[in-house]
Amino acid sequence: MGKTLTEKILDDHLVEGELTPGEEIGIEIDQVLTQDTTGTMVWLQFEAMGLEEVQTEIAAQYCDHQTYQFDFKNTDDHRFLRSAAGTFGAHFSRPGNGICHNVHRENFAAPGKTMLGSDSHTPTPGGLGELAIGAGGIDVTVAMGGAPYYIEMPEVVSVRLEGELPEWATAKDVILELLRRLSVKGGVGKILEYTGPGVETLTAPERMTITNMGTELGATSSIFPTDEQTKDYLERVGRGEEYVELQPDDDAEYHDEIVVDLSDLEPLIAQPSMPDNVVPVSEAAGEDVEQVIVGSCTNGGYEDILPVAKMLEGREVSMETETIVAPGSKQASEMLARQGWVAEMMAAGVNFSEATCGACIGIGHVPASDSVSLRTFNRNFEGRSGIEDDNVYLCSPEVAAAAALKGEIVDPRELEDDGVDAPGVELPDQYDGSKTDLIAPDEAVDDELIKGPNIGDVPLKDELDSNLAGEALLKMDDNITTDHIIPATQDILMYRSNIDKLSEFTLSRVDDTFAQRAADADGGFLVAGENYGQGSSREHAAMCPMYLGIEGVLAQSFARIHRANLFNFGLVPLIIDEDTYEKIDQGDDIEIVDDVREGVESGQEEFTVRVNDDWEATATLNASRRERDMLSLGGKLPWTKQQAEGG
Ligand code: F3S
Repeated sequence: MGKTLTEKILDDHLVEGELTPGEEIGIEIDQVLTQDTTGTMVWLQFEAMGLEEVQTEIAAQYCDHQTYQFDFKNTDDHRFLRSAAGTFGAHFSRPGNGICHNVHRENFAAPGKTMLGSDSHTPTPGGLGELAIGAGGIDVTVAMGGAPYYIEMPEVVSVRLEGELPEWATAKDVILELLRRLSVKGGVGKILEYTGPGVETLTAPERMTITNMGTELGATSSIFPTDEQTKDYLERVGRGEEYVELQPDDDAEYHDEIVVDLSDLEPLIAQPSMPDNVVPVSEAAGEDVEQVIVGSCTNGGYEDILPVAKMLEGREVSMETETIVAPGSKQASEMLARQGWVAEMMAAGVNFSEATCGACIGIGHVPASDSVSLRTFNRNFEGRSGIEDDNVYLCSPEVAAAAALKGEIVDPRELEDDGVDAPGVELPDQYDGSKTDLIAPDEAVDDELIKGPNIGDVPLKDELDSNLAGEALLKMDDNITTDHIIPATQDILMYRSNIDKLSEFTLSRVDDTFAQRAADADGGFLVAGENYGQGSSREHAAMCPMYLGIEGVLAQSFARIHRANLFNFGLVPLIIDEDTYEKIDQGDDIEIVDDVREGVESGQEEFTVRVNDDWEATATLNASRRERDMLSLGGKLPWTKQQAEGG
């Protein structure tokens, strides 16, 4: 039987297990990336494990989420990260140099490589044929130390592209169409492999818009084969020699196939407040728009902003609409500036921002209360913009530019009546921005760690108890995001390296008494519906509940990265059925009747949960041998140390 492209790359990197869906495999990792809000813990854990030098081919530390240094704590973090990259041998991308995925694709992403990143949109370079997976920080730490990364072998699904995009339909509409059809849970446990004749019609940056947002489907990763388009892009970024042709075998077998005819697509928009709440733009037309932002790791490339600049050239944005352009990388900004496009956009009324994640996580450009903000980003979870009553829509740069001109949501095809032509996709001859903000390991400015007062210690958990009992401290709905668990807004983000302080904000967006109640109870459980922990890779969403004494989470299902993070920090993730979920109330007394430690160690899958000493239900622990060993020892850090000591 032939192999899929995913299987070929995994096979090349396999160190343990077999490529059977659901089986745990260990793979060698070639590249890692981390960013400022997850990176501080990555390096503190690297230090705590006694590791001395990065072992992967490439390790890159980016500063992109919080680049504005308006509190010394941010600057302390940046300085610590630079010192860690220098000390341990990673590339360091300075604050303002751009978003990790954009800078990484310009400089390091390469076909056939594997990558692990402590950011959920790590799969972005799948558009170049790299198999990239988002993971918790400690997984990145361990991979960077040279150990394999363990994961359940996902199902490989073919997304067969046919036809060619019509004018005004874009790569963003391809992924929005998939979200419309499959929902934010549609890719869970899957790697989406793009196939079919439509692939060659998409440039590499367009492919990376699609692979970037595969994360919103819950997919483990997304990947395209490589071809002339890949080669062309690599040549334009000055790395043509890294091209390798990668295709699935003709007789490759996929678990499933989804067909998208590109020629059927039209401009789409995700309405508030989930990326899968997608409709044709024409259905949302007429809504007044107070803010438009073009940028992010999804649509912040040179090729994304150029169409906006062309549509705005010689025109003016609506007086009612604040229009912000924040490129994904300084290289894109520099090129657009040298070509005069920045001046054109400014003349049209655009506020041009530095290359940062910023507004994507509510840092800067927070919308006015109860107003509509149209963004080219990948997420519109409620409150993520920095204000609870937000109305954030997600769309392509072309739809965003049309709204900026009209002051309302409008199908961009209607602008043709005003003489606005479809801008199309255009790549520069050369991506030729300066590289002054990317410091290679051999140019490092520091050779020892610099820790300011905000850089705390790595929290550790005791080994697993035999008896687990406590209160159901919080009962939550479906689709709770990591933004709900540990918000990423500026007032909170600066404590990512200070868990004692950060934990005070745990689940504050769901219940602001939770952290205090959990600390007082010194133990207890979280209860949730489906898809608990979707969203980002932030391990703090497991680390902080652990720090507050939470012992386990009872949920109907877990998002992949968060589930792994729970094991990594020694919290027991138990699956309950819908009836049990409905019957448990917040405040109920919960007891796991079995000897939990013995059960975890012996491979027991079903545990009995007794509620209020009144009724019982079954909860399932679905875990590999390695995950069980980690739980028993209190998490991945003690487990890794034990492995290193030959335990
Ligand atoms: Fe940054 Fe938002 Fe992407 S936070 S990495 S631009 S999803």
